Order: sequence, then C-alpha cells, then structure tokens
Amino acid sequence: MDHPTDFSKMMARRHSVRAYTSDPVARETLERICTAARRAPSGANLQPGSFHVLTGQPLKALIGQLQAADQAGAPIDLEYSYFPKPMPADLKDRQRRAGYALYQALGIARRDVAGRRAQFARNYAFFGAPVGIVVTIDRNMGKGCFMDLGMALMSLLLAVENEGLGATGIGAIANYAQVAHRALQLPEQELVVCGVAVGVPDQSAAVNQFRTERAGLDAFTSFRGFD
Ligand SMILES: Cc1cc2nc3c(=O)[nH]c(=O)nc-3n(C[C@H](O)[C@H](O)[C@H](O)COP(=O)(O)O)c2cc1C
Repeated sequence: MDHPTDFSKMMARRHSVRAYTSDPVARETLERICTAARRAPSGANLQPGSFHVLTGQPLKALIGQLQAADQAGAPIDLEYSYFPKPMPADLKDRQRRAGYALYQALGIARRDVAGRRAQFARNYAFFGAPVGIVVTIDRNMGKGCFMDLGMALMSLLLAVENEGLGATGIGAIANYAQVAHRALQLPEQELVVCGVAVGVPDQSAAVNQFRTERAGLDAFTSFRGFD
C-alpha cells in the first residue's frame, strides 16, 4: 500500500525556483532555515561551510557588482572545479536536457543566443529573489567536507520548502568569486562555493512550470543478496 509521508511529498514537490514575488522573508524564518541546515551530519561533526545571508541593500550591491562583471565580460574566476573535464557524453546529455526544459518553458529558441544569455544573466540577479545566500567553505577543507556542505545545502533547501518558500542553488555566483569576496569582505581563506536564492515562488512565472527528470533506479544503484 502506498503511504506517501510528508517527507516524500516534500521531496517530490521541491524544485528549483527561478522567479519570485517581491514579498520579503523575515530574518527569523531565515534563522530557522539556517539552523535546520546546520543539523546536517558531517564527518567528525566539523560542520564545514558558512551561509552569508543577504537582503536589501547588501544584496543589491552584490548583484550590481556581479552584473557589472558579467556585462564587462570579466574572466570567470571559479575557485574550484565543479564539472568533470571533459564532460562524459551521458552527463552532457543530462545537462542539455535540463537546459532545453528551462529554455522551452521560457519560449527561448535553441538558436536564440541573446535570449539564452539574458536568461543566464538572471543568475547574477539571484533570479529576483528577496534573499540571496552566498555559501563559502574554508579552502583547506577536503572533498569530504564539500560532501558535508552539500548535505547542509540539501537540508537548507528542504527547510526552505518546509517554510512554504522556494529556492534554487546558483553555482554561477562562484563564476565571479572575487566579486563576492570584495562585496562581502570575505576572509581570503573562504572559498566561494555557490549562491542560493530564497523567496516566495512566483507561481505564475513560466520558468517555474517545468520539472526536471531523473535517472531510473537501475542507472545508479545495485542491490545484492536480496533474492
Ligand atoms: C549547488 C547547485 C548549484 C546550482 N547552480 C545553478 C545555476 O547556477 N543556475 C541555475 O539556473 N540552476 C542552478 N542549479 C539548479 C539545478 O540546475 C537543478 O537543481 C537541477 O537541474 C535539478 O532540477 P530541480 O532542482 O528543479 O529538481 C544549481 C543547483 C545546485 C544544487
């Protein structure tokens, strides 16, 4: 019998939100969200990573500087490698499908380079969210600590969902890591991992209507000794 729990419903419901209403999010709500994120487990309980939560003028200032860097064609200064190089064909296919779903929802044609570029630039505006979080980690942390931070990030996304809000991770923020460093006056030791947009989803926005697919169970699991 099928008994979907609140948890599985929440997992099924969560998706990346790329358009928001102008409703603000209270500091207390964000404190609850960040506290829930920190409940994530981590190797030796090191609890790696920091969340720099911005709204109002500080967010506006960061967005202005990111957009200026983007418009000036400033070189990308990502401080860590995110994707495999080279990207294997099957993963490239997943990346393309997610991109096509996004651009299709927005009615942006495959060959509309300017349209795609304009949508990509929305990353640097945190997709119009009232709250932008810059996620950082100490540069000396190993790969395992990035995994720990990933768990904290997932916990944060679920805590956002639990508050009836929406969010998306924004790796693109790390494209201009030094801009974020300067804007937030981050210690040099902190590496910029990504951004997260948080706010009330604009349910009427076309960009929020599509859902991404996932690989079937067989593609990423193996079970032994069960028969
Ligand atoms: C760490 C992280 C970084 C991401 N960076 C971006 C980004 O820069 N721009 C973007 O539009 N989406 C970004 N995403 C959203 C992913 O594209 C999205 O999670 C994926 O396509 C699966 O879709 P879903 O979140 O709607 O289930 C990011 C997600 C994560 C977890």
